[in-house]
Amino acid sequence: MLKWNPELFGRSLLRLADLTDEEMLNVIELSVALKARRRAGIRGNLLERRQVALIFEKSSTRTRNAASVAIRDEGGAAEYLTKNDIHLGSKESVKDTARVLGRMFDGILFRGFAQTTVATLAKYAGVPVWNGLTDDYHPTQILADLMTIQENFGRLKGLKVAYVGDGRNNVANSLMLGCAKAGVHYVNCTPVELMPDPVLVKEACETARRNGVTVEICHDPKTGVSGANVLYTDVWVSMGEEDQKETRLRLLRPYQINMELVKATGNSGGELIFLHCLPAFHDFETVMTAESGALEVTDEVFEAPFSKVFDEAENRMHTIKALYVSALSDLSAL
Ligand code: CP
Ligand code: NVA
Repeated sequence: MLKWNPELFGRSLLRLADLTDEEMLNVIELSVALKARRRAGIRGNLLERRQVALIFEKSSTRTRNAASVAIRDEGGAAEYLTKNDIHLGSKESVKDTARVLGRMFDGILFRGFAQTTVATLAKYAGVPVWNGLTDDYHPTQILADLMTIQENFGRLKGLKVAYVGDGRNNVANSLMLGCAKAGVHYVNCTPVELMPDPVLVKEACETARRNGVTVEICHDPKTGVSGANVLYTDVWVSMGEEDQKETRLRLLRPYQINMELVKATGNSGGELIFLHCLPAFHDFETVMTAESGALEVTDEVFEAPFSKVFDEAENRMHTIKALYVSALSDLSAL
């Protein structure tokens, strides 16, 4: 049974704050139902004749493919557009591009640098626009993360997520807000130099308080992760910040997720999972430098049974599909 919140019809998602707490949980609930539907072998027509433009300024494995497969699964189509394919930002303004694509497509998913670009697209396209990652936020990622947490624990409320690493990147910003909205305790274990924007922390703290949980920043990872049900990390150098690699490695070495940190949670078995948005540096096939201290997570943790990173990656597709269906389909006609 697909439960649809009609309030989400025609809506964009630029950051998680664009959704009420309840709407965010509705999207996750619909994602669970859509996952079951696909597992049952149903490839339906919920998105028949719907077409989305996927504008990508940065590279992507999960988001791009999740966004393409999700719409095709339900009878729609996607057009993948890189900076080299269209005039965006060089010969044509974001505003004009939005007005052109909005005349042709039913929705636009954008991945790129500036949050202002996705906001401008949403302002002028006249169709729903989804943020598939900017320098500031990664909201569709966090929908999949919360879905994965719920799958593993059967609930969200009252659990504790410990994010360890670059505390001010797009994933950390959205995770902080997503946890607060879902009623999940959140601790950000990060060095002083990489703390999130205080304005954002204030917003998350207020949201958390409303939901009876806490948002904390902690500089000592072993203290911060105590009692955590979810250990979460991301790369130490995000796309577009490659020039800061040396400083980041120096600052973040003490924040690696390894078995010692896993033990410091005090949780094991069914009480703890590891998540990473991916791609991850966890082995020497892809590592930036051939020394284990340069990895944000050890291979031992990444490959452990409590690591749910590939379920999390799969859930990117179900959650993006739920956003499409919510914004583009009239399920009341079913
Ligand atoms: N997690 C995530 O957004 O992955 P991609 O960069 O591969 O899209
Ligand atoms: N923080 C990472 C996330 C990748 C999905 C980046 O922006 O590169």
